Amino acid sequence: MERLQKVIAQAGIASRRKAEELIKDGRVKVNGKVVTELGVKVTSSDKIEVNEIQIEKEEPVYFLLYKPRGVISSVSDDKGRKVVTDFFSNYQERIFPVGRLDYDTSGLLLLTNDGEFANLLTHPSNEVEKLYVAKVKGIPLRENLRKLEKGIRLEDGKTAPAKVKMLSGDKKKQTAIVEISIHEGRNRQVRRMFEAIGHEVVKLKRERYGFLTLGGLKAGEARELTPHEVKQLRALASDKSKKNS
Ligand code: URA
Repeated sequence: MERLQKVIAQAGIASRRKAEELIKDGRVKVNGKVVTELGVKVTSSDKIEVNEIQIEKEEPVYFLLYKPRGVISSVSDDKGRKVVTDFFSNYQERIFPVGRLDYDTSGLLLLTNDGEFANLLTHPSNEVEKLYVAKVKGIPLRENLRKLEKGIRLEDGKTAPAKVKMLSGDKKKQTAIVEISIHEGRNRQVRRMFEAIGHEVVKLKRERYGFLTLGGLKAGEARELTPHEVKQLRALASDKSKKNS
């Protein structure tokens, strides 16, 4: 038995909150009857319709992809560019990325067909820590890296404290490699943080997402998460929301 709004969210139709609104608005039917209460529980044999269309229940699946550069973090692209779900074309499930990496960013990206799981991980109060390695133009001064650590003002507000570590600097080529961990997920955040201290990011890779790493994967390769990893990710995100509330 699962709560109706959870089943709708898991089918990838809407976030749990939106599913609750759909129910309250009378747009959800269970076995042919409109249900407007939120507490209702359903089983896998119940017929659920949203806006008169029966939802397809899929077994939840969870993947970790090493996204290469030059791929869009989306399920389709109107310009016909490669998208992350192209790596899963032999799966029937309607999977989508959990959050996004820029077109030119490579690294660890999660994908799932479980809308509730995706919402939990990407909700601003639950965002798990992500570690990036950036190659930047010029060699940042320690004091500027400190600014990133403390939080820096961007056009959409000050960033939360970050962990920053200079890995190497090439004086001849005037480039540096810097590791940065953040737990927010704003649009182009790492690139904008470095821009704010005067260093353009020329290469960016996400190496870690919470406790998950790329392991031995090569760019373009993916693996399924283990049930234990999925559980751990859920616990990590829920823990954060408790701490933040
Ligand atoms: N920060 C960025 O600037 N780009 C990404 O893809 C991820 C984090």
